[in-house]
Amino acid sequence: MLTSEFTIRKIENLRPRLQAIVDKLLEDFAMGPQPSDLVSAFTLATPALAISELLGVPYDDHDFFQEQAMIMTSSTATREEASAANQALCEYLRELVAKRSESPGEDILSRLIVNHVRKGDITETDVVSLGRLLLIAGHETTANTTSMGVLFLLQRPDIWEELRQNPSLVPNAVEEMLRFLDVIQSGTRRVALEDVVVNGQLIRAGDPVVVLSISANRDQEQFKDPHVFDLRRDARTQIAFGYGPHQCMGQVLARVEMQIMFTALLKRLPNLRLAVPIESLAFKSDSLMYGVRALPVSW
Ligand code: HEM
Repeated sequence: MLTSEFTIRKIENLRPRLQAIVDKLLEDFAMGPQPSDLVSAFTLATPALAISELLGVPYDDHDFFQEQAMIMTSSTATREEASAANQALCEYLRELVAKRSESPGEDILSRLIVNHVRKGDITETDVVSLGRLLLIAGHETTANTTSMGVLFLLQRPDIWEELRQNPSLVPNAVEEMLRFLDVIQSGTRRVALEDVVVNGQLIRAGDPVVVLSISANRDQEQFKDPHVFDLRRDARTQIAFGYGPHQCMGQVLARVEMQIMFTALLKRLPNLRLAVPIESLAFKSDSLMYGVRALPVSW
């Protein structure tokens, strides 16, 4: 029901709209006071705005849904706090789904209602649940990867300059960032359905497995000098988006968003620099997704 929303063709058609979102946010940022936080104004705002538009969730409510997503992905939130955040988000989406049901628009929630709820394939509660998944998966991941990517490039002026002079390398740089900075540190969880031998290790049917992509993405048998960021390596076998039937549904969107953001940033703010010592930055060590909370920059 959802994969058709995220095909290469669908996302390529969205490219002009994504470009417009990026250009507007970056222009507002560039004209604003210095130093300013690039995360809230740009690296988080871009994917949040994009997924809001796609889903049909009003972006004006972004403070609310970003806060709930942050609590739900925090590894230090109590069970009660995480559950309350989940309930608040579901309640919010339930009201929205009811509104879209009355007057459907040109968005994913509306299409799920018209094409699937009305035909009896799924219920409105399922739409709430899918909307919640997409809303959270659709912005935190891309935002954290992009923020960490910017921070990395600011530490490596040689790579920044090379990309600035040769923007055709950006898609490759994005792929290498996904490999090198892989932000999902908690691993994806699976249960073996049958006995399986992985690299000489027997995993028995019923055994739980945590698959650490951060480790696989630094596997020296797959990637030469895995701890080196190499702009020219073919990193397309990285598994930051997971692997198999449940691999990330939004990976085409994430790639295109990141390509547009980095290309625009290198062009519009070529002299971007960190406005504070790197030691003073707050990192998300307490979250299922690694990242940096704010990036005060000048340009
Ligand atoms: C850099 C950005 C992103 C990263 C690193 C990322 C990573 C992942 C990973 C590791 C999984 C789990 C795969 C597995 O279980 O094997 C996943 C699943 C998923 N992602 Fe992403 N994601 C990103 C962006 C997005 C975006 C933009 C969207 C939505 C538009 C999205 C929607 C989803 C959905 C719906 C799933 C669940 C798929 C399923 O269970 O079948 N993701 N993602």
